[in-house]
Amino acid sequence: MTGVDNAEEEKGRVLVVDDEQVIREILCDFLTMEGFTVHSVEDGESALKELERRQYHLVLSDLKMPGMGGLELLDRIQKTIKNVLVVIMTGFGTVETAIESMKKGAYDYILKPFKIEDVVHVVERGLERQRLQTENIKLKEALSIYRVSEAITHSIKLETILELILDAVLAEGQADVATLLLKDPSSGLFIEQHRRVAAAAENATVGLLDTNLLLLEVGRGVPILAHGLKALRFFSEPPPDKRLVSFCSIPLKVQDRVIGILNAYSYTNGHRFTEGQRKMFAVLASRAAASIENAQLYEDLVDRNSDLEKANRSLAENFRATIIGFAHALEESDKYTRGHSERVAFYSSLCAAGLTLPAAEVERIVQAGLMHDIGKIGIRYEKLNKPGKLSPEEVAMFRTHPAKGKRILEPIPSMQELIAGAWCHHENWDGSGYPRGLMGDNIPLLGRVVAIADTYDAMTSDRAYRKALPHDVAVAELERCAGAQFDPELVPVFLNKLDEHREKMIAEGEDIPR
Ligand SMILES: [Fe+2]
Repeated sequence: MTGVDNAEEEKGRVLVVDDEQVIREILCDFLTMEGFTVHSVEDGESALKELERRQYHLVLSDLKMPGMGGLELLDRIQKTIKNVLVVIMTGFGTVETAIESMKKGAYDYILKPFKIEDVVHVVERGLERQRLQTENIKLKEALSIYRVSEAITHSIKLETILELILDAVLAEGQADVATLLLKDPSSGLFIEQHRRVAAAAENATVGLLDTNLLLLEVGRGVPILAHGLKALRFFSEPPPDKRLVSFCSIPLKVQDRVIGILNAYSYTNGHRFTEGQRKMFAVLASRAAASIENAQLYEDLVDRNSDLEKANRSLAENFRATIIGFAHALEESDKYTRGHSERVAFYSSLCAAGLTLPAAEVERIVQAGLMHDIGKIGIRYEKLNKPGKLSPEEVAMFRTHPAKGKRILEPIPSMQELIAGAWCHHENWDGSGYPRGLMGDNIPLLGRVVAIADTYDAMTSDRAYRKALPHDVAVAELERCAGAQFDPELVPVFLNKLDEHREKMIAEGEDIPR
């Protein structure tokens, strides 16, 4: 049964308009037998009413009828009804009348008395044309959706995607105005975010939508397709300057939540949105919803990344504070070494500034300077701060601090990159240092830089066993030991930067070590 119905639908709907009952009956019988769905009326007015009630593909109308004639009916149909073909039948068949009806837009004409096969042939040919036209429209719609989809996949910017979607509503849905309302997450209100207006409808006032009523309908997932006065009930303030012909409203849903509403307006006489166009709007609305959701997910991701970056920054700051805390704790017990690690860090930063290094590497050198003597936590430090020479045992104990520093830092993943500073700052360029006797470039840069900074500060600070040496003496000692104890290329780099620093201090009236 369903199959028969579908077959009838596929063959097409025909409206016969003729004042002669016998003609109506003959045409109805024969065309129904051919598989068409046929209705008949006896005059033009009834035909127009029937065409407004139901959709027909083809009207077969007599030319001469009481009241409205066939040509007038043709004219009225063309003004108000879309997508229907009109075939004129005339018993007064002259070429002139036929030409006139064709000029006015009739699809074809049939001369009375007709042969039924001719009528069937004309109707079939007309319906085939209608079918091809519909397919063409569907193809165009599919193409438009395809184009929008393509554009969406090539665009990450939400604004661009939404505008593409509204443009497609105008171009392919032949809407005059398209708007997109999005739910404001804080207030929960639906606010118009985007609007596109066709050139022909420029300055159109769209009125104010009754979003509560819209949501009642579309919130249940039911799209709205309404025409004329029926459409106006969805407005709290109807458009004042234009007569709304057709209105379509589709929810943008993400899972069960309505996150927005897509609206299409037609002010063009005779252009009501069709069911097919409504379906196309629904596809576009679902694209819009998916894009908005993706964009929101993307924004969430960006937010989360920025939270993570903040957490990382705060970890790094904590880390730095911890290093300084360690260094201070180490030095507090001894007046001779108080401030030593911070000064070594500063002198290391001077040397690093003279090299072309990334900022992160400079920072690493500064932190390594702060941490270089962390291994002294593990030795009997107070025993070493005494006037006079250290015994061989005391020297041996002192020399364990680089390796102890390595062992202290080793288990802490975030401190791995500082190990070289603590472990290698007593290695000498010529291989005579400790703990491993590394030579030249085999000594990590951190170790080579900290060694120079450490020695300069040790020489220019008071010690339990001697007073601070003058700057010039310390410089001469560094220069003398360049290539033996120290990296010969790093010594002049450090001394240049140190000179610059001291000149700046003098210019600013600051005290500098002699
Ligand atoms: Fe040391």
